[in-house]
Amino acid sequence: MNPVLLPVRLYGDEILRTKLKECDVFDPALQAFIPDLVHTMYERDGVGLAANQVGSHFRVFVIDPAWAREDASPNPIVMINPIIESREGEVDNEEGCISLPGIFAYVHRAVRISYSYSDPQGNRLHETAEGFKAVVIQHEYDHLEGIVFTDRIGILAKLKLKRKLNELVARAVNGVNIMEGFPDD
Ligand code: NI
Repeated sequence: MNPVLLPVRLYGDEILRTKLKECDVFDPALQAFIPDLVHTMYERDGVGLAANQVGSHFRVFVIDPAWAREDASPNPIVMINPIIESREGEVDNEEGCISLPGIFAYVHRAVRISYSYSDPQGNRLHETAEGFKAVVIQHEYDHLEGIVFTDRIGILAKLKLKRKLNELVARAVNGVNIMEGFPDD
């Protein structure tokens, strides 16, 4: 079956504020969902996408940090039930998010992390990452905790984005804020 392009939930949607619960790696619904998650990340030209950004409650995200490069070929890494075990050093990185179109801000992150996760085959992997990959993992991990990157910026930076953030929130209907028709669908 061909993967499906899932509708992206935007800032103002309650599911982005939901802390996702650990899931069973072998749940057939999760296994069926993963290709759609990966497909949607590439279609939206992201370097990461978390399940709640497309309306799912599975504790999973996909990343492909190299996708930002011109010559990149797809190399998706799916992380189920990830845990960030340690964080070291500091870096300020300009971030954006598929759920916050047109909004960018510098976010303070750890420069090196160690973490564990289950892959879709059920192997528990322990790894370290630094630089951009570490930042992408921290950004996506935040989504699983119900946190978006604008929660981590200073008051002045947030004030500058207030109008754009309010515009996004204004699109929400009964706590649901779907990308369709926005910004250039
Ligand atoms: Ni994001």
